Amino acid sequence: MATIVGGVGCSHVPAVGAAIDKGRTADPYWAPYFAKLDRARAWMAEADPDVCLVVYNDHANAFSLEVVPTFAIGLADEFPVADEGYGPRPVPTVHGHPDLAWHLAESLILDEFDMTLVNEMPVDHGLTVPLSVMYGQPEAWPCRVIPLCVNVVQYPPPTGRRCYALGRAIRRAVEAYEGGERVVVLGTGGMSHQLQSERAGLINVEFDTAFLDGLVADPDAVARIPHVEYLREAGSEGIELVMWLVMRGALSPTVHEVYRATHVPTSNTHNGLLVLEEG
Ligand code: DHB
Ligand code: FE
Repeated sequence: MATIVGGVGCSHVPAVGAAIDKGRTADPYWAPYFAKLDRARAWMAEADPDVCLVVYNDHANAFSLEVVPTFAIGLADEFPVADEGYGPRPVPTVHGHPDLAWHLAESLILDEFDMTLVNEMPVDHGLTVPLSVMYGQPEAWPCRVIPLCVNVVQYPPPTGRRCYALGRAIRRAVEAYEGGERVVVLGTGGMSHQLQSERAGLINVEFDTAFLDGLVADPDAVARIPHVEYLREAGSEGIELVMWLVMRGALSPTVHEVYRATHVPTSNTHNGLLVLEEG
């Protein structure tokens, strides 16, 4: 059977990707943030998963606002890197795992999670920045990647509870797969940030810290946080945090917190990084 060996929560700030791509990680603005990544990267190198299931939101790059799937899974062999307006990031092509992805799709849909099936899509900063955070700048990504998109762009996004339940269904599906793949689940986005309007630049360290504490120790309670509380406390883009609940749901009820780091400033986001292992 395939196994889930750990989970990672990781912000996906595009400027972090640009700092890596342009060799700016030692700049005074960036160095304190990048110093916090070493421990997480060492864990990832040791865990050396065969597959990363990356839970992220597309930012109107693969899906325009004409069609917005609530949950979507990437089934392709290969996912090109999206051009988000400045040319595609200079990172390796993302290679999928069609066999496991189709198994997940079948298992999840028969488990009553109505996934949209995606045979072709470019992947944007929501997926590539977390890979860069965890792996740096390899010639090729060391793992296969299954993209799992969650709509948090167009109201109404799925609830935290639904995302948590999806994570649990992912765990059942992975454990029913016949291959021996070792899987790490990444939940991306967050933490508090708001990119536009009167409250642009909002950061709420207190809310984010309580979210992380709860996600580790009492995920059922965190899953009950309503949308309006994310909006009020973590800003309009803070809703991305529901994707961390998919990751948490895929882990066992008790987990071991391997590493946590948070940082301000990175662009407009309170940047979070959390590494969890099975408890
Ligand atoms: C920023 C953060 C995001 O999650 C995103 O998708 C775009 C921008 C930011 O902090 O700049
Ligand atoms: Fe985002």
